[in-house]
Amino acid sequence: MKGDPRKLGFSTRAVHAGQTPDPRTGAVAVPIYQTSTYVQHGLGEGAEYEYARVQNPTRSALEEQVCQLEGGHSGHAFASGMSAIATLVTLVKAGEHVVVSRNVYGGVYRYFTRIMERYDLSFSWVDTSNLAAIEAALRPETKIVYLETPTNPVMEIADIRAISKLAHSRGARVAVDNTFLSPYFQRPLELGADFVVHSTTKFLNGHSDSIGGVLISTTEEDAEWFRLVSKSAGAILSPFDSFLVMRGIKTLAVRMERHEQNARRIVDFLVAHPKVKRVLYPGLPDHPGHEIHKRQASGFGSMITIEMGSYDAAKRMLDRMRVMSFAESLGGVESLISHPASMTHASIPAERRADLGLTDGMVRLSVGIENVEDLVADLEQALA
Ligand SMILES: Cc1ncc(COP(=O)(O)O)c(C=O)c1O
Repeated sequence: MKGDPRKLGFSTRAVHAGQTPDPRTGAVAVPIYQTSTYVQHGLGEGAEYEYARVQNPTRSALEEQVCQLEGGHSGHAFASGMSAIATLVTLVKAGEHVVVSRNVYGGVYRYFTRIMERYDLSFSWVDTSNLAAIEAALRPETKIVYLETPTNPVMEIADIRAISKLAHSRGARVAVDNTFLSPYFQRPLELGADFVVHSTTKFLNGHSDSIGGVLISTTEEDAEWFRLVSKSAGAILSPFDSFLVMRGIKTLAVRMERHEQNARRIVDFLVAHPKVKRVLYPGLPDHPGHEIHKRQASGFGSMITIEMGSYDAAKRMLDRMRVMSFAESLGGVESLISHPASMTHASIPAERRADLGLTDGMVRLSVGIENVEDLVADLEQALA
């Protein structure tokens, strides 16, 4: 397309943002610039591209695409979701403090407690669905309030707008891991947050064939810092993975609609099933965060957690699944089913998992885009 897609609808931006036709050939798809360096014009003459750890046109196109979907100032793509999060945390210095959703992805818990605490950063693990608890945890040295909403896998909902207002009044900034919903359903920066991170490994790429992460900033000062960290630490996303994620994002809108449509049907089935003790899904009217979620997001996504009552009951079900694959991760076109306590959240000590309500009987579903009748039939036979 010609012109700036920034004012156009979400799906149009997903397809066109950052996708300038190749100037040499007019190629519609941004080429994979698989190069480590670039020939420069001459000594003393600056060049836009010098070395691929610092700049790569395929990566830049993806960064612009995601940035426009989240409505930020700049995007920064990394080799994994964890390296995007690690880059964000370089804003916090020794002696400073971060308030974190108590029930974040287990890898984030491991990174903060086992690595960053060694560098004298401190973390308060808070129920971020409770504004008063956040208020009580904020300190003069708090730099960032780090949220997941919904949390993984307990599905606690944080009020991004209210938390941003509170954090800003106390000199802290707010980062949201938006992996579960993607910008198609939730755009934290529009609600007042300062940073968004994603594991692009999940819904953004959407096809379970790439590991990656993005970090979106809202100011040039932060962007400059992230560019410095990125080129210095070097955990950049490869040109091929940038291409894959960009290609995945072009169909994000249609995939998310189908993901959610399937999830709603499956939630109805699970709620009515006598062997399922509890269904955690923010789309259920009796979910504690339902009203807040409805105010800040345009959909409920396709992540569902169920309580089977015991490890053995969860195992019996998981062992029998046929269409849904028993695997870590989420957000792919194929339905995945997992056991958070022994998989994604195994690095969280058992007593802490118990405090969070993350039980051994919990099973997490990432509902894909297959024919929903096949998914329901699969669950039906596994639960029989
Ligand atoms: C919500 C969430 N954030 C971050 C990550 C880390 O992303 P990655 O595995 O791409 O490093 C994950 C991984 O499962 C996740 O589920």
